[in-house]
Amino acid sequence: MATLLSDLVSGATHVPSNYVRPAHDRPNLDQVQSSDHSIPLINLQGLEDTRRSDIIKQIGLACQDYGFFQVQNHGIEEAVIDNMLSVSKEFFHLPESERLKSFSDDPLKTTRLSTSFNVKTEEVSSWRDYLRLHCYPLEDYMHEWPSNPPSFREDVAEYCRNVRGLAVRLLESISESLGLEGDYMNKALGKHGQHMAINYYPTCPQPELTYGLPGHADPNVITVLLQDDVAGLQVLNNGKWVAVKPIPHTFIVNIADQIQVLSNDRYKSVLHRAVVNCNKERISIPTFYCPSYDAVMEPAPQLIDDHHPPLYRSFTYAEFYEKFWDRGLNTRSSLDLFKTTSHSA
Ligand code: OGA
Ligand code: NI
Repeated sequence: MATLLSDLVSGATHVPSNYVRPAHDRPNLDQVQSSDHSIPLINLQGLEDTRRSDIIKQIGLACQDYGFFQVQNHGIEEAVIDNMLSVSKEFFHLPESERLKSFSDDPLKTTRLSTSFNVKTEEVSSWRDYLRLHCYPLEDYMHEWPSNPPSFREDVAEYCRNVRGLAVRLLESISESLGLEGDYMNKALGKHGQHMAINYYPTCPQPELTYGLPGHADPNVITVLLQDDVAGLQVLNNGKWVAVKPIPHTFIVNIADQIQVLSNDRYKSVLHRAVVNCNKERISIPTFYCPSYDAVMEPAPQLIDDHHPPLYRSFTYAEFYEKFWDRGLNTRSSLDLFKTTSHSA
């Protein structure tokens, strides 16, 4: 039996039973909203000078109302993005034996190819294979990455350097939008961490029965997602699932759990999911920008007063991250485990 989904199901006409969600937990694709303006699109041109305060205002509103936005004129060259997408596709099209050199089901390994979410703990599988890479500091991890395709390490490293720059700029803007010093979040993350997933969603004969990824919130600080031209990402807004239409060379940014903590719930880490389709395979590449494991997370003292008591206790990111992988993708957030007792339901 094949280890990876892509090898198990090529040519399948039915979804294997361990991928079928119970009836109350299916995508209901006919109830999903799709329109051109699903989540705010923000033009970052001028962020460092003439348009800074205007852009920061837009970012603040998007964080409050959606927890998600897309960015254009982000300063990352199109060639860097195109190379990242094409080398990712090439990787997932390598022969199974070649890909499996990177396989591991241990979530704590810093470079690994795996499938679904956490095969050791989950009951129902998800329609996805993924390559997970730690990527900051690059020198510590690059030598572990796949060496095939031959340009993989260089193309991915160039992409990582660029996305890290963007993430740091976004964190400055988000800090300022909360009325904090620009460097507040960047300082709160300790030595910083950066992980990436390259998600590969094969075509699926019965997309109404399963998920690429079920609804979840991301455990890190901020996620910067690149996707190819195939739709699949959906975001929960006002109780409805909204499809995000791909726009070439834009990034999708979302607030993740640690900003919810640092902002003491002013900004929420929003549920999102990936659905699959019968016609086209899909690649998405989230960069999970993180604190270092030893960084202590807690609500920013500047956002706490008599009317806004701290909603979370202090914890290390290591503590949080371990809970996230153990619990599985779950619509009840891992954040609940770190709420201050006086305010938990
Ligand atoms: C994720 C994720 C969405 C997508 O990997 O955490 O939310 O569109 N991916 O693949
Ligand atoms: Ni996610």
